[in-house]
Amino acid sequence: MKKDKAFAKVDRFFAEIERSGLALTYGDVRLKTGYSDSDPKDASITSFFSRNVPLNCPLVSAAMDTVTEASMAIAMAMFGGLGIIHKALTAEQQAAQVRQVKRYLNCMVETPICVKEDETMGDILDRSLKSGFDFHSFPVLSNSGKIVGLLTRNNFEFCTDPKTTASRAMTPFKDLVTAPSGTSAKEAYAILSGQHKKVLPLINETRELTGMFVYSDLKRLMFGLSSQYNVDTDSHLRVGAAIDVGPEELVRAEMLLEAGCDVLVIDKAHGDMRPVKEMLTSLKGLKQKYPGRDVVAGNVSEPESALRLAKWGADGIKVGQGPGSICTTRDIAGVGCPQVTAVYNCAKAVRGMGIPLCADGGVTKSGDIPVALAIGASSVMMGFVLAGTDKAPGKFKETNRGRVKVYRGMGSLEAMKESYAARARYRQGDTPKDKLVAEGVVSTVPYRGSVTKVLETQVGGLRAGLGYVGANSIPELQKKADLHWLSAAGQTESHPHDVDVTDKTQ
Ligand code: IMP
Repeated sequence: MKKDKAFAKVDRFFAEIERSGLALTYGDVRLKTGYSDSDPKDASITSFFSRNVPLNCPLVSAAMDTVTEASMAIAMAMFGGLGIIHKALTAEQQAAQVRQVKRYLNCMVETPICVKEDETMGDILDRSLKSGFDFHSFPVLSNSGKIVGLLTRNNFEFCTDPKTTASRAMTPFKDLVTAPSGTSAKEAYAILSGQHKKVLPLINETRELTGMFVYSDLKRLMFGLSSQYNVDTDSHLRVGAAIDVGPEELVRAEMLLEAGCDVLVIDKAHGDMRPVKEMLTSLKGLKQKYPGRDVVAGNVSEPESALRLAKWGADGIKVGQGPGSICTTRDIAGVGCPQVTAVYNCAKAVRGMGIPLCADGGVTKSGDIPVALAIGASSVMMGFVLAGTDKAPGKFKETNRGRVKVYRGMGSLEAMKESYAARARYRQGDTPKDKLVAEGVVSTVPYRGSVTKVLETQVGGLRAGLGYVGANSIPELQKKADLHWLSAAGQTESHPHDVDVTDKTQ
């Protein structure tokens, strides 16, 4: 056996396991340690979610209505990962969420959202809410298209009558700080910090608006951890969005791509079926219209299914049928494969085809992440780990067990009753609401505060894993990795045991 061949050792491990007919999951295995000659904090953790969507860290947030909307997607991309906006929204709402992510970091806003001088403040606020804008700076244009002023948060805050027109509430052009088209980000930053202004409209000789800089974005770009951000070639945060199958979903897909979505994820509980094949075929035209955008498909758990998705044209494959913390598919339908075996088999089936594989569901501990990557995943998707954080949709509740947040399966009765998209994920789109069969539960998870802190802990664990194996990158991990299969006693020994844990922060 060649020493440096990727997966050589894990192939041997799984060949043995397969002989016994066993299927394994995260708690069943741990990585063998090996000689290390570098510091894990220097290891590279870059990877890919799909053919054209790279990751600076291999973590992806689940397309669930209690996990990923714009705020989570922004946090994930700023951490180097990716968020997949859930689809239990109208196409317009989902596209607005995508736009919110794409605009978040705008170094220069190329096409600022403008308002007309005779629009009322009430109408502007309404439009802003409906479109999901999380900013309050709007250049005000005359009917001939020239900039006549600027509305900022202050103007909205001090406006008591919603019928006031923009032209009455705005800061007029004569009092604005502006700069000519072509001003660089660095120059804009100098102007805004010197003048203590938050917004810098760029104008041409005929006083038409050609762009706009926002101080907070510039500051983030100048001093933030921008090399970590997962950004596209225009320096906009990357984002994905879930879709279903069928003609109406093609319309949704185009709206999402138009909004700037980097990757569409065909999100089905069972991805190995004809409508997914047809959807992948139908999306080919849109992929030509929007080059560089990807389509990931899932979920599957068997190698033949992964291979079919690859042949049908998926740019990435999502693996996981039954491992989710809120999932009851295996109980209800009697199907599914424990996640480690599923990920390994699916990854092996498409090895060498250049199609990244995402291990979706079942991650409860940071130590599960290096395991998933070692056996062939390029990224892991998480719901449970992220649902209790500040950026997951919904507020925390105070209970007698402390602060909690709601985390629910998209196949829970509650989610399916509320959303066609949730029912469609489980092929119950047209099922009457009193006849739905749940494949998930509604739960609460402890409130965990800052999502960035949680992600830091997960990445800390991944780096520690790389260090113990002696790998400097994910590809090196895949070359060096070997696994131990744990006995029941070995599993018990892997967690704190025989003690009363007093520090329950882990
Ligand atoms: P977790 O990280 O273990 O909580 O798993 C999250 C994953 O579970 C999601 O990304 C989905 O693939 C999957 N999932 C979401 N809702 C349901 C459900 O109701 N039933 C089964 N699986 C679900």
